[in-house]
Amino acid sequence: MKPVTAGFFPSIRFENDESSPMYRQLYAWFRSAILTGELPPGHKLPSTRYLASELSVSRITVLCAFQQLAAEGYIVSSAGSGTYVAKSIPDQVTRLGFGKQPRLMNHSQCAGSRKISQLSAKISPFPTLPFGLEAFRVGLPALDRFPVTIWSRLVARRWRQPKKEMLMYGDRMGFGPCREAIAEYVTTVRGVRCDASQVMIVNGSQQGLEITARALLDPGDHVWIEEPGYPGAAQASAAVTANLIPVPVDHEGLDVKEGIKRFPKARAAFITPSHQFPMGMTMSAGRRMMLLDWAFRNNSWIVEDDYDSEYDFRKRPIAAVQGLDTNARVIYVGTFSKILFPSLRIGYLIVPSDLVSAFSRIRQASDLSHSTLEQAVLADFIEEGHLARHIRRMRMLYMERNEMLAAQIQKQLGSTVELVSAHADMHLVCLLPSGVEDTIVWQRAAEGGVASWPLSICYQGNPERGGLILGYGGVGQKQIEDGVKKLAAIIADSL
Ligand SMILES: Cc1ncc(COP(=O)(O)O)c(C=O)c1O
Repeated sequence: MKPVTAGFFPSIRFENDESSPMYRQLYAWFRSAILTGELPPGHKLPSTRYLASELSVSRITVLCAFQQLAAEGYIVSSAGSGTYVAKSIPDQVTRLGFGKQPRLMNHSQCAGSRKISQLSAKISPFPTLPFGLEAFRVGLPALDRFPVTIWSRLVARRWRQPKKEMLMYGDRMGFGPCREAIAEYVTTVRGVRCDASQVMIVNGSQQGLEITARALLDPGDHVWIEEPGYPGAAQASAAVTANLIPVPVDHEGLDVKEGIKRFPKARAAFITPSHQFPMGMTMSAGRRMMLLDWAFRNNSWIVEDDYDSEYDFRKRPIAAVQGLDTNARVIYVGTFSKILFPSLRIGYLIVPSDLVSAFSRIRQASDLSHSTLEQAVLADFIEEGHLARHIRRMRMLYMERNEMLAAQIQKQLGSTVELVSAHADMHLVCLLPSGVEDTIVWQRAAEGGVASWPLSICYQGNPERGGLILGYGGVGQKQIEDGVKKLAAIIADSL
């Protein structure tokens, strides 16, 4: 149990056991809280007068309980300064948890005797490492280039005389001005067709994917998932017990014909058409039309995860599939994690108008709204032109870093590896020599201080060839050089 912070006091819970006197129950609660470490050695206790009034018991009751605790050495009183948990209680006692703390069990024990949902076991974890800023962490933008001064000025302005609505629960769909700013941004820059009433602001696009899956799918429904694809999309579908149908991607993106062959009646397709995750290709116009046609004929949904198309630096970003759709079959998912910073946790959905109410109800089951203050600051940031400026700068920077990383890999690894998706975003894929297991290389690299994702986690089946997904958004030249050097040594060792 986590010890309480100095100055705070945990709430005292009684079992309401009439067979035991009140002072005894109070004594038992304190004893347990001390033994579990909830009240750590040296922690100051409230006065007996205060406790009696808080608990609506007589002061004698509290004094009797304290006398017993003092007699057994759990607490000590010091004249004039108050009563404290005894310092003499060894830490070890509290760590071993002699109080009511449940025993910790390992995973297999949990599965057997402690009943949890089968679903939780089905959702595979991301290959997360303890938080860090090292090369080549996937999803890490250039945080040192974020215009913190501008952002904090906007925060301060909103906080100076906050309107009461800033401090209250917000609209389930999001803060009005922020929804308007996003609607304008996606219609102008991404070719999305929508108005602000269709924008739902969510806590990152991962939540957007999950809300979408809950709103559209029933347990057992079949969904097309890109193979390889973003593991978060598979997790969101798995979270509603949908059946995943992996559909291969090639140089034109999702192979729609193959999807139709494998499972024509799928309820939805989760895709990353602007910049396929992780392989980086753009879905061709022909495939886009074919997919829209399939969705229309089959009464299915397309979930378009457009997580980073702003950073396609070789060409003008290609317009969203949503903008081509004339039958309102597309749910568009966007995020500010890559273009601003991931801990902001602001993403958004563009929902067909007739589904807005269903999406809003689903959202309400798990979360009431995102922080209004942050949405207001983001709206200001977009409206005042800072977003567009920041994206322009970052595009140049990521292009340089992309070239730097590709050149280093070429120099230090040569033809041992093969690079894919080397023209956009903040990551590239480096295919390993056949037969080399990417999870082993990934693990060794992580132990050596180099982060990445093994490509195989993006597959439902087994990849023909393993690889590493390397993020370069947040790393400078020296980190790139050192990181590739370490990787080269680890890969050479694995051959
Ligand atoms: C393809 C893709 N979709 C969604 C996300 C989730 O982003 P967010 O931070 O908005 O939840 C990521 C994050 O890396 C991603 O790569």
